[in-house]
Amino acid sequence: MKIISSYSIKGGVGKTALAVNLAFAFREAGYRTLLMDLDPQGAASFYFRISGAEKFKMKDTKSVIDGLRRNIRESDFPGLDIIPSNLGYRHFDIQLDAMTKSRKQLRKVLEKFTPDYDVILMDCPPNITLLSENIFRASDAILVPVIPTVLSRRTFEQLLGFFQEEELPSDIIRPFFSMVQKRNKMHREIMVELPPLHPGFLKTTIPFSVDVEKMGIHKMPLLAYSRAGEASRAYRSLCNEILSPRCSEND
Ligand SMILES: Nc1ncnc2c1ncn2[C@@H]1O[C@H](COP(=O)(O)OP(=O)(O)OP(=O)(O)O)[C@@H](O)[C@H]1O
Ligand SMILES: [Mg+2]
Repeated sequence: MKIISSYSIKGGVGKTALAVNLAFAFREAGYRTLLMDLDPQGAASFYFRISGAEKFKMKDTKSVIDGLRRNIRESDFPGLDIIPSNLGYRHFDIQLDAMTKSRKQLRKVLEKFTPDYDVILMDCPPNITLLSENIFRASDAILVPVIPTVLSRRTFEQLLGFFQEEELPSDIIRPFFSMVQKRNKMHREIMVELPPLHPGFLKTTIPFSVDVEKMGIHKMPLLAYSRAGEASRAYRSLCNEILSPRCSEND
């Protein structure tokens, strides 16, 4: 089983758009996929028309595992299950902090789902919190959307700095360019400068496209209703790149 997170310190960069489309693409590739919506905003759950999770007690590892298991929902697409968001997740950090080995708890919890899924994909809230640290330590790969702008680049570099400080393995960080506008000169320049500095950069780029914004109207992943558009092809290609031997060689 692989645990993959869609994460950035920065908000609004395309984490959820990635998570829902990648979950769909994994499932299309034949992987039993579980999408966990860890963001109290619940956008990933919304895109699958799934309402919020029931509240559950998070007093120890067992209660978290039981609560999450009770909240697994089938999506409209067989082979793809969702654990929807829960406003209670805003307390996840406090609960995790109360547990021993608090930075590794999430990994312990997710390993219990190993027999049932090939891939667990987490849509993460922005920010760096104790929950994020748990996400880092639980993930085999962390996909980081980077809009080719100065601020987005800066937050990506802050994340690398954090990994260095905490002695976390930075090779699990897999950035990619998101919301790319090829006609924008700054986008073009940053896209030339940044990847050579970071060997983990994925080659696939996600274009800026109104098709992605329309997911809110269709309430389903873009890949479920548009197969041929540029953005759909990009999400599928990103999935293939992640599944390629080069990406999986450290697994
Ligand atoms: N490739 C894209 N082209 C155009 N619009 C996009 C693209 N990706 C995402 N968007 C739009 O940008 C907004 C933010 O995207 P999304 O919710 O995926 O970001 P996020 O990083 O998950 O945000 P948050 O930090 O709030 O969770 C949404 O309105 C979404 O429809
Ligand atoms: Mg989001």
